[in-house]
Amino acid sequence: MNPFELKPMEMENCFKERKDLYGYSYDKYSADPYSKLRIILMNGTEFEEVYFGHNAMRNEARGDLRRDLALLRRSEQMQQKQIACLKPISESVLENTIAYEQLAVDLTALMASREQNLYVKHCLDFALLEDFDHLYRYADLMNMETGEKAEDLVGGYTEIMPGRPTIAEHRHPYDDVKRPISAKQDSLLTKLQVNIITAAEQQTMNYYMNQCGFYKSDLGRRLYQEIAMIEEQHVSQYGSLIDPVCSPLEKLLMHEYTEAYLYYSAYETETDAKLKRVWEEFFEQEVAHLHFAAELLKKYDGKEYQEVIPKADFPELLALSEQKEYVRGVLKNTVNETAMREDFSRLDALSDTFDFFSYQKRVNGNDAGIASHEVIEKHIKELGEDYRYQLKEHPVSELRKRDEDNVRVGRVKSKVAAK
Ligand SMILES: [Fe+2]
Ligand SMILES: [Fe+2]
Ligand SMILES: [Fe+2]
Ligand SMILES: [Fe+2]
Repeated sequence: MNPFELKPMEMENCFKERKDLYGYSYDKYSADPYSKLRIILMNGTEFEEVYFGHNAMRNEARGDLRRDLALLRRSEQMQQKQIACLKPISESVLENTIAYEQLAVDLTALMASREQNLYVKHCLDFALLEDFDHLYRYADLMNMETGEKAEDLVGGYTEIMPGRPTIAEHRHPYDDVKRPISAKQDSLLTKLQVNIITAAEQQTMNYYMNQCGFYKSDLGRRLYQEIAMIEEQHVSQYGSLIDPVCSPLEKLLMHEYTEAYLYYSAYETETDAKLKRVWEEFFEQEVAHLHFAAELLKKYDGKEYQEVIPKADFPELLALSEQKEYVRGVLKNTVNETAMREDFSRLDALSDTFDFFSYQKRVNGNDAGIASHEVIEKHIKELGEDYRYQLKEHPVSELRKRDEDNVRVGRVKSKVAAK
């Protein structure tokens, strides 16, 4: 499928009557979890388009181009509004949060498992274990506060157990900034994956930024606050991978291509017939956006789209699927890693003066009052053990105990931890 070879609809025809933006939402009990995840992913993708479009306009002096960007942005906004309300009224913030973290786990693992740029793969594997841990902490909050079991929401696709403990994820800001990929040298799939994961993590970051003040308990609000800070780190990591050398209109073209790829992937893999129709319609709109972006690139930069995307056939589509064994392997091999500037390091290899340790001390203090730890401790106190959906023994021996929350893994050097 090469979206440049399709005949695009008129841009103005992307605008829909208001009543057509609202109607269907999925049934939270019977929907396939991956349908929910696709909605979150596409919602995040549209958020990214909208903010990219606003920033592009603010950095642009030419009135015609500013108006063209406004035209495009209006259509992205309409798509986002319709997608936002595909989620049913009855789904709570915390239930929705479980889907956000499930997406972070299964999307990241899928992309890491097929990523050819080993540095990008390492970045994906690294953050994967952190979102995996977030899923566990939120699931325990849910089980304790409402009695609900998150396994009923993740549909058996994703295990729920400790990853790199959230308390160990707080790192100095300098250690989130990575080396950018090269738009000229890296593959189309690598460029797509970096764009996709940046938008997805940014959506999670935005969601927690907004929701942390609305959650109904103090412990929950503190947990959202804490995990939101890690999502800031993840967005810094992934955003820093994007090639900074491309012009704004080259970036715009790649954004529209990414959207077209994602909607086409969603259309091909969706099992809910009504959602499938939405993805199909939006794919057609994105083809119009993409052709429009190519025209802008030619008109204002004097460049052909082939200079940015020489071979425009979609690479292997994005089909969400179970990643349990992949996640277990990454857990087993890298749970004790942390970030060290643009690279990664086993915790034991760091000098005691490295700023990871001083930052940890500054933000975590003496561990008491750290929500991600407290939520598990409280669950154990009230219900005898933590909540997990674990299908076999945890691959990391230190994370097997169900009646004690380990706050040393990935955070305290083994010679110190053993004392
Ligand atoms: Fe869009
Ligand atoms: Fe997360
Ligand atoms: Fe994340
Ligand atoms: Fe678009």
